[in-house]
Amino acid sequence: MFLPDLLKDRRILVTGGGTGLGAAMARRFAGLGATLILCGRRQAVLDETAAAIAAESGRPVTALPCDIRDPDAVEALAERIWQDGPLDVLVNNAAGNFIAQTEHLSARAADAILNTSMHGALYCTLAAGKRWIGARHPGIVLSILSTSTLTGRAFTVPSAMAKSGLLAMTRSLAVEWGPKGVRLVAIAPGPFPTAGAWQQLRPGESPAQKHAPGNPLGRVGEHHELADLAAFLVSPMAGYINGEMVTIDGGLHLRQSGAEDLLAWTDDQWAALRAKRS
Ligand code: HXC
Repeated sequence: MFLPDLLKDRRILVTGGGTGLGAAMARRFAGLGATLILCGRRQAVLDETAAAIAAESGRPVTALPCDIRDPDAVEALAERIWQDGPLDVLVNNAAGNFIAQTEHLSARAADAILNTSMHGALYCTLAAGKRWIGARHPGIVLSILSTSTLTGRAFTVPSAMAKSGLLAMTRSLAVEWGPKGVRLVAIAPGPFPTAGAWQQLRPGESPAQKHAPGNPLGRVGEHHELADLAAFLVSPMAGYINGEMVTIDGGLHLRQSGAEDLLAWTDDQWAALRAKRS
């Protein structure tokens, strides 16, 4: 249903674009004609993904390492990107998360999540937004959130807080920056298994498992389904959607928040998980 040049020559930055859902979205954007910039912490991972997407799509893909927890690094990244011309779309995808009993979280552990998932995304949004507004260049911010914004989520409280904070940012800036030509949208994905997320959130379960009996549709999400929604939201087809979060979870959040099975874990199981990590 998408025209092959839907995103032609749009310059799109995907944070956390080297792996998982970030890479899946980047691949889809490139297939629709976009010019990609991928950032993440690991140069080798970024390089590999960038080379693969460039080879498949024939589109330029630049890999720029950046730890978005560092505001100076984010500023330097923006300077580097704008040297070649203005960005058109920022995708706030990078996030950190792990399951833990909340009473066992240290301040450093809480910050490890909040610094990436909330502060990092805000730094990126500010770096892009001030340049767009200063140059009167239209911009789009797509933030990848979570159904935890709708339900809260036990055992991943800092992540749920960060994602809800970004939803507030999306809605607030839609009003403040809309008149200045910047449109903000968000996606609330349910279960879309990736190696990184499953290692942190579903230890012991395979991300290859597609069957999800607790989901109203009986399955987990396919990466291309999320990537298609992202492509639509950053395209002119969605030009009048502003401040909105679209949920894509098979209807799961209407049935359960996604973490209830962890309530059945014993303290011994939690202690074993902590011991494995220390
Ligand atoms: C318990 C942990 C922990 C874990 C870190 N800590 N990982 N505690 N379980 N798995 C604690 C440490 O003990 C330490 O506290 C503090 O956090 C900082 O630890 P560091 O190792 O220095 O953290 P850091 O290098 O910042 O890395 C933390 C991280 C990392 C960002 C979470 O694991 C990471 O890079 N993960 C990969 C990205 C990721 O998480 N992907 C999954 C995203 S899924 P102390 O007090 O001991 O010093 C996702 C979906 C969201 O985002 C929506 C679904 C709900």
